[in-house]
Amino acid sequence: MTILVTGGAGYIGSHTCVELLDAGYDVVVVDNYYNSVPAVLDRVEKITGKTLRRYDCDIRDRDGLEKVFSENKIDAVIHFAGLKAVGESTKLPLLYYENNIWGSIVLFEVMEKAGCKKIVFSSSATVYGNNPIPYKEDMPTGDVSSPYGRTKHFIEKILGDVYEADNSWSISLLRYFNPIGAHESGLIGEDPNGIPNNLMPYISRVAIGKLEKLTVFGGDYDTPDGTCIRDYIHVVDLARAHLCAVADILKTTGIEAYNIGNGKGSSVLEIINAFEQASGIKLNYVIGDRRAGDLPAFYADPTKANTRLGWHAEYGVDKMCLDTWNFQRKNPDGIR
Ligand code: NAD
Ligand code: UD1
Repeated sequence: MTILVTGGAGYIGSHTCVELLDAGYDVVVVDNYYNSVPAVLDRVEKITGKTLRRYDCDIRDRDGLEKVFSENKIDAVIHFAGLKAVGESTKLPLLYYENNIWGSIVLFEVMEKAGCKKIVFSSSATVYGNNPIPYKEDMPTGDVSSPYGRTKHFIEKILGDVYEADNSWSISLLRYFNPIGAHESGLIGEDPNGIPNNLMPYISRVAIGKLEKLTVFGGDYDTPDGTCIRDYIHVVDLARAHLCAVADILKTTGIEAYNIGNGKGSSVLEIINAFEQASGIKLNYVIGDRRAGDLPAFYADPTKANTRLGWHAEYGVDKMCLDTWNFQRKNPDGIR
């Protein structure tokens, strides 16, 4: 079986390529390296001892994508390619709509033309907006606070319409919670450009001495320690969820959404503490103002993915912090 992975050189995509290759799939990657470097794929090959096919191609490039489908017999697609910076999306909404939504439409059209109607799509817990916790898949979605989040909601809806029009499609919408951690080898991990927006890469850059101090965004939330609660999930657990989803879409038709989270919340202070334990480093941090748009607490009810996909998260926050630090230590200047 051959799986096309769009955005395969990115953080989650690269970890998923490792799991796919280890499980015996042939892997074809399409990436324009907007937020990654080709060296990541060399490292994926090093970890697995296997090779993958790669195309330096933008998903908005219809001719380029058609070439990929004509040169490979693709059985299913895992679609990671997209822009993901929430703050940036509020400043550059058209770029986000063009890249994420238009890029996805071109991909779906090329798939349809090639007769490949099986796809796993990277969605986000952000589609739930202000629902009660824990989030469940049948809750209303779409009350989203950023253009980035709206791209995820719209693409989910577009895929819903695609399935309504043609029931031979098989579609899995994976709603990720907060992926952190890195592959145990320390060869691949999260390597954002510039100053990180997200908690864990910020923490690890403070620990390695590249940033002076972490600001905890708000210490006065209505939570046990006053800081926000999120459902952190190890990126390797998340990658493995894609294998379960691929196995499922290869044998069925339909459209289903799944929460991919641990089902447990951790506060910012708990993550700081877990990181300090794992690294042996005392983190320099201050409690600052709340960040606009942050919800006090959310986490997944992952029962549907557990029961229907047979997927369970294996790793806790200690292992997530250990592997993040291992990657950061081995790659102080990122992946080159
Ligand atoms: P990432 O930026 O590391 O990976 C995305 C990859 O897609 C990059 O390699 C980038 O170069 C590529 N890409 C972007 N636009 C492209 C285009 N037009 N054509 C070809 N390649 C393109 O991000 P990630 O953290 O690995 O996230 C993967 C997916 O999961 C994204 O769709 C993201 O929105 C979604 N997601 C991520 C998180 C998270 O916390 N990381 C949470 C929820 C959902
Ligand atoms: C963010 C996005 C969300 C996206 C997710 C994964 C926002 C508002 N939400 O979620 O849409 O799906 O990333 O990419 O941006 N924190 C600090 N200090 C920091 C950084 C973060 O205290 O320097 C806190 C935040 O307030 C939050 C927690 O750490 O409580 C996690 O933050 P982050 O990693 O940015 O993820 P989310 O905000 O949950």
